Amino acid sequence: MDRDLLDVEEHDEDEESQLRPHSFEQYIGQEDLKKNLKVFVTAAKMRDESLDHVLLYGPPGLGKTTMSMIIANEMGTHIRVTSGPSIDKTGDLVAILTSLEPGDVLFIDEIHRLNKVVEEVLYPAMEDYCVDVIIGKDQSARSIRIDLPPFTLVGATTRMGDISAPLRDRFGIVGKLDYYKDDELEEIISRTSKVYGMDIADDARNELAKRSRGTPRIANRLFRRVRDFSMFYGEKVISLERTKEALDNLKVDDLGLDHVDHKYLLGIIERYRGGPVGLNALAASIGEEPNTLEDVCEPYLLQKGLIRRTAKGRVATDLAYRHFHLEREF
Ligand SMILES: Nc1ncnc2c1ncn2[C@@H]1O[C@H](COP(=O)(O)OP(=O)(O)O)[C@@H](O)[C@H]1O
Ligand SMILES: [Mg+2]
Repeated sequence: MDRDLLDVEEHDEDEESQLRPHSFEQYIGQEDLKKNLKVFVTAAKMRDESLDHVLLYGPPGLGKTTMSMIIANEMGTHIRVTSGPSIDKTGDLVAILTSLEPGDVLFIDEIHRLNKVVEEVLYPAMEDYCVDVIIGKDQSARSIRIDLPPFTLVGATTRMGDISAPLRDRFGIVGKLDYYKDDELEEIISRTSKVYGMDIADDARNELAKRSRGTPRIANRLFRRVRDFSMFYGEKVISLERTKEALDNLKVDDLGLDHVDHKYLLGIIERYRGGPVGLNALAASIGEEPNTLEDVCEPYLLQKGLIRRTAKGRVATDLAYRHFHLEREF
């Protein structure tokens, strides 16, 4: 039993890394970002220098972690992966920084969650490739400077607004990731279908792309569920009918909205007569975390024109009412 579980996990790990594109060539979409990064990477390599620090921002699941790994691959260097909340003390960060090899990429996920004291260690590290550490105590305490090898910091965040100005200003390259277009998601789904060795009909792939919230991670997740439904019915190719059935069962609607989006929108419409309502009040009334709503739900609902953010709070648009076949009350 245990053995089986382990095997399954190893298999998943494998599939996950097979799903991840490994080069700019394999990375679908985000054309502007990719084009810029290609230029900066190529030029840095021509100068035999490390790449300038990169800050990637955008909603979860759009490919920030994937892109940071590609940057290291394309630079021909190693990547060290850590995250803002997992670096507790300045000593932790100093230990990571001093163990880097020249040219390495240091990836800090959720970089907006670094604590202030730790963040301050990054400033000289990014700017001058050095850190100052205090040794000794009280009277005998003194600061010594440790030189670091040239390295590239890649930071990722879902919350650009939470990055302090001094940190933001130290990134030479800032890139925003946008939701993917349907045809790009279709390409991603084709790739996923090959990795899993399960074919999908063209119309089914199109349906799945439309309902994936513009997000590769969601497309891949839904693909796995649709595949389960097809296998359950003994079908060799994923059909449109089965795709619709699976997605309806998972409560993913034809705009790709899931049950949290529905709670959010119906919360505004039914409890606050369409708004405006403050984020915290809305979150409390539907039993969700304000941060989740702000990072995960709202960017997509805004992009789809289903809500507006005003000075007084969130408002459901006419489009949102129409989506639920509801009339606005006055
Ligand atoms: N441009 C892309 N092309 C193909 N697959 C992608 C792309 N971007 C992301 N993915 C897939 O989506 C998953 C989530 O991407 P990830 O980089 O973890 O997102 P983020 O770090 O922004 O939350 C990855 O495992 C990868 O398989
Ligand atoms: Mg990530």
